[in-house]
Amino acid sequence: MEWRRRVRERRTGLWRTLTLLSLGVATTLLLAACGGVGLEESRPYTTTTPESPTARDIQGLYKLVFWMALVVFLVVQTAIVYTALRFRRTSHGADRPAQIHGNKRLEILWTVIPAIVLLVILIPSITTMYDFDAAAEEGDLVVDIYARQWWWEIHYGKDARGDELGVITGNEIHIPVGQDVIFRLHSNNVIHSFWVPQLSGKTDVIPGHINEMSITATEPGEYYGECAEFCGAQHAWMRFKIVADPVDEFYTWVNQWRTATTMAGPAATSGELSRVPDTFGLCLACHQINGTNANVAPVGIESPPTSGPNLTLFACRETLAAGLLVNNEENLRAWLRDPGAIKEGNWMATVIQPGTLSEEQIDELVEYLYTLRPAEGCAGDAVPAVVPDTVAIPAA
Ligand code: CUA
Repeated sequence: MEWRRRVRERRTGLWRTLTLLSLGVATTLLLAACGGVGLEESRPYTTTTPESPTARDIQGLYKLVFWMALVVFLVVQTAIVYTALRFRRTSHGADRPAQIHGNKRLEILWTVIPAIVLLVILIPSITTMYDFDAAAEEGDLVVDIYARQWWWEIHYGKDARGDELGVITGNEIHIPVGQDVIFRLHSNNVIHSFWVPQLSGKTDVIPGHINEMSITATEPGEYYGECAEFCGAQHAWMRFKIVADPVDEFYTWVNQWRTATTMAGPAATSGELSRVPDTFGLCLACHQINGTNANVAPVGIESPPTSGPNLTLFACRETLAAGLLVNNEENLRAWLRDPGAIKEGNWMATVIQPGTLSEEQIDELVEYLYTLRPAEGCAGDAVPAVVPDTVAIPAA
């Protein structure tokens, strides 16, 4: 019978729509559930666990926008689903619904409401931006960051007492807890972006222009950062970390770096400087080690792209090759054997290829590099080390 067929068709259409809808909702919920597992433990690159006032402001803004967007989404989707069901065409050829052109009241409404929504988002966004700018004006400590392809060179400037710290290091940035640190971002190559999700938003690192940002870590700990702007073959392995130390421990680290001549290094010293082993000769042109005669390699913004990280206190670093490898003997050996196989396109690979260093030379270098630590132990060891997502190198 005709009316039965009509009812059946209507039902099938309705069921199909409802099934699709519930599938969509189920998928969304499933994805959300996956994302929520152990965020703090396994995902140091998350913005959802902010650990600085700046990151908390950004997270606050994010939540505001998220909830407003969710309301808009639900209202719009409900209207769409309602309209699709209410006015859908059925095969029994019902009359076309009334065709309407223009409705002043509706048009005013859907212009005014989005304007109000955007205004509610705009005002806190602008005040937050100005707060960040103001914070970057004056800080307790100035740190210059030079983005390389693909690692970070870190120069410490004036601290809260007006002392020039003068420390130069690579990829692992110690800062004092509770102090406002101004990062001045430089590049002499391409555009990079400096990002520590738990501590700040992204700031571009642009050749020929110094961007500034401020970070205050409220809790001691290790915060992971990465380059957030595509900058070449190894962009993904241009990571770094900020180690927020209690203030006294930060100064212990600074002093250890500055008095690196008293390190438990090779006994042979000439004057104030200890001599690096002859095997290090090949490394001299790109790497400095404080307190030694390895002090000719260029550093800073004017240095050529071939310059490498300052290796002072090398044994205290937790990673190699900008967060790519855990700093241990096995990995260091693999790196010295063939850096290009581990991080293709890096500058060190233009000097060191398989066979450039003999196994004896590699042994000697590894042994020497692990003497680059203070006799009393590395400062900051109290902070538990987490090294996420590094790559395991198969034994040679
Ligand atoms: Cu540097 Cu991406």
